[in-house]
Amino acid sequence: MPSHGKIVVFDDPEKLARAAAEKFVELARESIRDHGRFSVALAGGSTPARVYELLGSEFKDQIDWSRVHLFFGDERPVPPDHPDSNYRMAYEKLISRVPIPAENVHRMIGEAPEESARAYEEELRRHFSGEAWPRSDLIYLGLGDDGHTASLFPGTAGLKEDNAWVVSNWVDKLKTHRITLTPPVLNRSAHVVFLITGKNKADPLREVLEGSFDPERLPAQLINPEEGTLEWFVDRDAAGMLRQV
Ligand code: 6PG
Repeated sequence: MPSHGKIVVFDDPEKLARAAAEKFVELARESIRDHGRFSVALAGGSTPARVYELLGSEFKDQIDWSRVHLFFGDERPVPPDHPDSNYRMAYEKLISRVPIPAENVHRMIGEAPEESARAYEEELRRHFSGEAWPRSDLIYLGLGDDGHTASLFPGTAGLKEDNAWVVSNWVDKLKTHRITLTPPVLNRSAHVVFLITGKNKADPLREVLEGSFDPERLPAQLINPEEGTLEWFVDRDAAGMLRQV
């Protein structure tokens, strides 16, 4: 499947993380100048940790945090202090280190997936009031070694959701629900940036970008912003099996 996005290969994870932090600063400035705020959805997992750490340290003074709204792409079904919590990782690396108003941090209540999917959608509808779809300014995404992104896992109902903004997605292989933004929401972002590093992502990345179109098996293939930009920030290890770079 030809990639609909731009692939940017970095020598190593540190260079990728710095570029991702610079992208955040650039888009924050542009968004705040254009419409007075910067609405961004953070990716979970481990890859983005260094990006958030840089934003919470070296880059933090380049951002007007009073105008930033942090959302999440997905959350595990655990409380915010659990080691697996995407919120906890972002809190430790970034949120606890910057002067962002508490009301601007929009945590997904992972510990109660069913009701909090609806609650999160209402929070998004309030933030993007009057819009048919939420147009975030930036969404970071990761890629699982099974081709999932956010909590859109292969073979799950969330892949086909084209109406709700947020769902509690049953993931049979994990025997649990995961809250996740839905494909139409991800595809309405002004900018989507995948952050992918490591040899274990080389095969799924090749399949997603260069294999046949099979989003049921490779959900990351669903990400193809209608009007926004799509960039794949990958390190050399993750790009190791790509033909087109
Ligand atoms: C999650 C993430 C998920 C993640 C990928 C990659 O909650 O796990 O949202 O989509 O981005 O699984 O995770 P790593 O960065 O840890 O490889």
